[in-house]
Amino acid sequence: METPLAGVNRTLLMPLWGRAKATRAGSRILSDPAAVAVVERLDLDLRDLDRTLHPSNELFTIARARALDDIARGFLSRHAAATVINLGAGLDTAFHRVDDGRAAWFDVDLPAVIDLRQRLIPPTERTRRVAGSILEPGWVREVTPRPAAVLCLASGLLAYFRACHIRKLLAILAAAFPGGELAFDVQSPATNLFGNRRLRASGMGEARFRWGAFSAAAVRRLCPQLEILESFAIFAKLARDDFASERDWRMARSMDRMRAMWLVHARLPRQPGSSPGDDGAADHRHVVPRAEDALDQPMDPGSQRSGSRRTRFRSAPA
Ligand SMILES: C[S@@+](CC[C@H](N)C(=O)[O-])C[C@H]1O[C@@H](n2cnc3c(N)ncnc32)[C@H](O)[C@@H]1O
Repeated sequence: METPLAGVNRTLLMPLWGRAKATRAGSRILSDPAAVAVVERLDLDLRDLDRTLHPSNELFTIARARALDDIARGFLSRHAAATVINLGAGLDTAFHRVDDGRAAWFDVDLPAVIDLRQRLIPPTERTRRVAGSILEPGWVREVTPRPAAVLCLASGLLAYFRACHIRKLLAILAAAFPGGELAFDVQSPATNLFGNRRLRASGMGEARFRWGAFSAAAVRRLCPQLEILESFAIFAKLARDDFASERDWRMARSMDRMRAMWLVHARLPRQPGSSPGDDGAADHRHVVPRAEDALDQPMDPGSQRSGSRRTRFRSAPA
């Protein structure tokens, strides 16, 4: 099948391949048979990615999908009439992994990707595709009827944006879905630095990681009204037995110590300019950052040195 993917669009192949490969290998972290089916229909030889991507890439991909899936399942179990919006959905088959038989689901991505999605992933009664840039407010009009309980997911997306773009996106989401929830992954500046070398080697064109951070404080600086419900290192909720080998387990622990990738689960302000309320937040924990927050800054490839420093975090009740 012809795949008109270039640059940032093409980056969707990396997580897709990671999910499919792990599923074929019988991973205990993630099972995604729909991703395997998409790879087979895609008819592209993705094995080249194994040569250019770091072995940790697949681990990050499946741990991130697992963490976001768990957040989505929890949200769906708390809300009878939930809407999930998968931002920068790529060829993600999260709907097939977490669907509870009731949710309304929207996959939003750039037009070339939505076109490809249309050809590769059969539609269902409760899934809708929205073509457009999430950085332009127009797409939110297609999320109808106006949802009562919204969860926005952004998997492997925000790192490609500059801080100003993320601010814009958060403002669009806050205006459209006040009080809704949002979950996304964040990479450290060091992950971005090493990742950019791999992106170049993997033929991802102009796509570059641009924004990285170590702590929830950096996210709050982008949108002070955002209520951080929970934030945790990407492998923190997995057990030794989840990993296929001792090597993977050690790699995951070392990545978590460096805060290489972490997850944020947050609530959008209820009204523009207001503070989110506290209902539902009591169960959550978040990470209290220490003085190293000063390291958080948008990524400037080529001039970034701070990534080699270690940052420690402690958890505290929200
Ligand atoms: C690394 S891929 C992640 C795909 C998917 N979330 C996953 O985890 O498999 C990044 C995705 O973000 C999409 N994207 C990048 N910029 C975008 C924008 N401004 N609006 C909508 N989608 C965008 C790309 O087309 C691509 O599908």
